[in-house]
Amino acid sequence: MIKTKYIYFYNYDVNESDLCKLESKHLFDQEVKNKLLFSDIIINPSCSAFIKKRLDVLASDSQYSVLINKIKKLNICDEGFKAEYTFLERDSTGYRESLKILKDIGYCIEGNPDYYKPNIIYTICFYNNCWYFGILIKNNFDWHKHKQKPFSYSSSINITIAKSLVNIDAEGNKDTQLLDACCGVGTIMLEACFSGYTIEGCDINWKLCHQARKNLSHFNYKASVLVSDIKDIRKCYDTAIIDLPYNLFSHADENLVFHIIKSTAKVTNRLVVVSTIDISEHINNSGLQVTDFCVVQKGRKTNFSRKIWLCEKK
Ligand SMILES: C[S@@+](CC[C@H](N)C(=O)[O-])C[C@H]1O[C@@H](n2cnc3c(N)ncnc32)[C@H](O)[C@@H]1O
Repeated sequence: MIKTKYIYFYNYDVNESDLCKLESKHLFDQEVKNKLLFSDIIINPSCSAFIKKRLDVLASDSQYSVLINKIKKLNICDEGFKAEYTFLERDSTGYRESLKILKDIGYCIEGNPDYYKPNIIYTICFYNNCWYFGILIKNNFDWHKHKQKPFSYSSSINITIAKSLVNIDAEGNKDTQLLDACCGVGTIMLEACFSGYTIEGCDINWKLCHQARKNLSHFNYKASVLVSDIKDIRKCYDTAIIDLPYNLFSHADENLVFHIIKSTAKVTNRLVVVSTIDISEHINNSGLQVTDFCVVQKGRKTNFSRKIWLCEKK
């Protein structure tokens, strides 16, 4: 039996599995395994694109009858509750049996159930010869609203990656002061604001800054966007994210990459950089070292990939 406060249920596309592992490593200090993660650290599932649900464990036992007694002793009293069975891999419980289990749970809870608009959802699952019961918190997918932001470009980073970058960078610490050093229309900033982080953005292009501000205010987020070359930023931040300009195949563009990384390293000790090319030399030459790395393939049939580099001062 795993003693844990929370069980996280994950789902992700095969192309994103390394990104998901990197995210879980920085949020929970462990990698997600078999789409499950047991931890005492509390994270809101809606802060991640990969966490579908969180179970706040109230009781657990290897024996079903003992678990039911433990649930009775909790004296739960909830009007408008719902009980759901969470099927996990290698749980051989059939559908009919799961309904009987839900009925048993229903009898342990005082109050009338509401299947359609529940105030609270309880769930039970069976994993590795142990039963776990508790409150189910679902990812509300409210962040999908950002897909309808007023200004967007096809080259903007996708929301899943944007959310992960924020999580890898801030590691769940809401006191972290973040900088989006090349913010464009603010895709990353929107996810940081949604998750309750303090973030500021900067971009050399005034039109993109104007659009980022419009995007942020459209969702009532408050965050500063500065029209500036990153080299002119003087304020220091706990950590920064750089989504580097693409189409970096000429020598001049390599200079730009180095310029952006080196300038950002002057205002922070920790950086998450997204690139389409190998930038290890530029990271090294900026006085940084790569402490974590992963590749996100775009679709199964393309060669296009994004490289995510976590760097810290040497
Ligand atoms: C790949 S785009 C970022 C896109 C952004 N993540 C979004 O979703 O819209 C790279 C951005 O870097 C900005 N940029 C290029 N050189 C810069 C510099 N020296 N300082 C700040 N921003 C710069 C460009 O204007 C561009 O908006």
